[in-house]
Amino acid sequence: MSSFKDLRIVDNFYQTSLFFPMPVVLIGTLTDDGKTTFGPYSLLAPFYVAGKDFYAMMLECRNSSNTARNLLKHKKCTVNFLPDDRKYFRETVRLGWPGDSPEEKMKDFKLTLEDGLRKEEDPEGAYPQVIREAFQVMECTWADWLDGAENDRPLEDGEDHYNLDHYHDFNGITTPYGAHFVLKIDRILMKEKYYSTIVNGVKASGFPRIPVDYGYRDSKNFWYTKHRRPIPELLPMRETTVQSVRYAADRLQSEVQFTDDALAMLVKVPRIFLPTVLKGCVKWAEENNVSVITEKEMKIINDKRSREKKK
Ligand SMILES: Cc1cc2nc3c(=O)[nH]c(=O)nc-3n(C[C@H](O)[C@H](O)[C@H](O)COP(=O)(O)O)c2cc1C
Repeated sequence: MSSFKDLRIVDNFYQTSLFFPMPVVLIGTLTDDGKTTFGPYSLLAPFYVAGKDFYAMMLECRNSSNTARNLLKHKKCTVNFLPDDRKYFRETVRLGWPGDSPEEKMKDFKLTLEDGLRKEEDPEGAYPQVIREAFQVMECTWADWLDGAENDRPLEDGEDHYNLDHYHDFNGITTPYGAHFVLKIDRILMKEKYYSTIVNGVKASGFPRIPVDYGYRDSKNFWYTKHRRPIPELLPMRETTVQSVRYAADRLQSEVQFTDDALAMLVKVPRIFLPTVLKGCVKWAEENNVSVITEKEMKIINDKRSREKKK
């Protein structure tokens, strides 16, 4: 017998039927008069993380929101991550009241606006501003060319939903009340302290303080957890044997040979990635007229790979 109860799956299941940890961000978009307005969002997740022409996030949002209407028109947004602080969170929740116009929200805005990097590199362009108090910001462009969404029109003032014959599957207007936005990441802006944490090595004190949305909410309260100091958990380290790396290498359709000491440098690579890594080595060898890969060539390949990663 299961040790769990069966809970009904209903609309907005992530906040009605689950405890679902999520980030809390303020999304900045452009109004028609070129000002920036902000709305709070949690349904935001990495979407294209590798292997595509660009990196992207997915945002799910009420299609009558200022954010959705502005994205449909002006395409750009900034995703601002504020540190855990009660007064910032109160301001975040205030900005979440549905139906307030950008003017109503922004006249009492308690945070500080500044231009992002996109504006710096293209001063004539129109880009939403970022929040100075944020510890990190993503500057994004809506990928309206996906799922045929480029002709989607925003709702007019006073309309609260769409009546379309066809809704998109994952980008643009996806239901009468909903929208999904694939957001291409143009820039990641990081405050100096956390930039240094990422680039020079992480320790617990170098992490930003992050509030976490609990998903579940009731009609009265929004629930979130305050920041706790992060603790490290060691990753599992598994090593295979040179023989099993050789087994995978022998399966490659190539004349290129590997010495044992070269293969020994790959014993920590998880088995599932071995063919790809070995094929990368063979490709390099063929391009550089190398017939035997020794430890020396492997070092050159590794250096090249880490240089590419840094880029
Ligand atoms: C912490 C928080 C997270 C929220 N997350 C979402 C979300 O992911 N998607 C959504 O449609 N609404 C979300 N809301 C509700 C929107 O903020 C609300 O619809 C608001 O009116 C949007 O502002 P805007 O019209 O200026 O875009 C959230 C509200 C709060 C307070």
